[in-house]
Amino acid sequence: MSRIAYVNGAYVQHSEAGVHIEDRGFQFADGVYEVCEVRHGLIVDLTRHLDRLDRSLAELRMHWPMARAALVVVIRQVLRRNRVKNGLFYLQVTRGAARRDHVFPAEGTPSTIVVTAKRTDAGLIARKNSHGIKAITVPENRWDRVDIKSVGLLSNVMARQKAKEEGAQEAIYLDADGMVKEGAATNVWIVDADGNLRTRPAEHGILRGITRTTLMDVSKHLGLTIEERPFTLDEMMTAREVFITAATSICFPVVAIDGKTIANGHPGSVSQNIREAFFDIAEKTAI
Ligand code: PDD
Repeated sequence: MSRIAYVNGAYVQHSEAGVHIEDRGFQFADGVYEVCEVRHGLIVDLTRHLDRLDRSLAELRMHWPMARAALVVVIRQVLRRNRVKNGLFYLQVTRGAARRDHVFPAEGTPSTIVVTAKRTDAGLIARKNSHGIKAITVPENRWDRVDIKSVGLLSNVMARQKAKEEGAQEAIYLDADGMVKEGAATNVWIVDADGNLRTRPAEHGILRGITRTTLMDVSKHLGLTIEERPFTLDEMMTAREVFITAATSICFPVVAIDGKTIANGHPGSVSQNIREAFFDIAEKTAI
């Protein structure tokens, strides 16, 4: 079955879809994006993802490409046309196409909007959940506004590639004080010796993950305590459990970091319980 993408008002063959060579997303990474999970034919946490899109656009003084309700229609259409029941949609908005100039293009330049969808590999996700994943640590070298979900991800690309070349699946950023920040495309959590969850506050230096926010609701349901406070590399290495969260993976256990085993080297029960409860608690929107 051929894939369909939505680009600037039209549903087109994925293989032929494209944007202008002077698109500011292409030339300056002048754009924002969202990735949202779809499970059992339901969109997970759509409201929170669109709220964050709204915030990212506002922070960069960009316009919505269309009314929010219209965008929801497009998202549903793309998912339906690609028959995605378990997978994700990717949505990107840029400041549009204009003659190359760093300053904003003329008022009224239309934003570029792209929506794609794909199925995820359920087997691969199940394997990562049952075996856990490996991570490496890398020094933070991104700009200060990582709270904005911008498509400027060069540092993240280099970090993930380094992880891959070292036999790991995620790279975890450490700040200049050696405190844990987040993964290249995930938020990082630990379970301490008392069984409490800990994650870095989202006010500064990380992306406020939607999975992270919904996990706060899940933890209440499971009777788990969450401490939002920074933690050190050492606290992470000696934690009872380490796991990472993102819309694409919900909650992957991390069983080794920088070649050293975490706890007994097997996925822990807390992350498993969270994963099992997550879908029931999250908001679900029909396609
Ligand atoms: N990444 N931190 C970073 C740097 C991220 O890129 C992501 C998501 C997260 C988790 O956010 P959420 O729970 O809203 O997915 C945290 C997406 C999945 C990506 O770039 O593919």
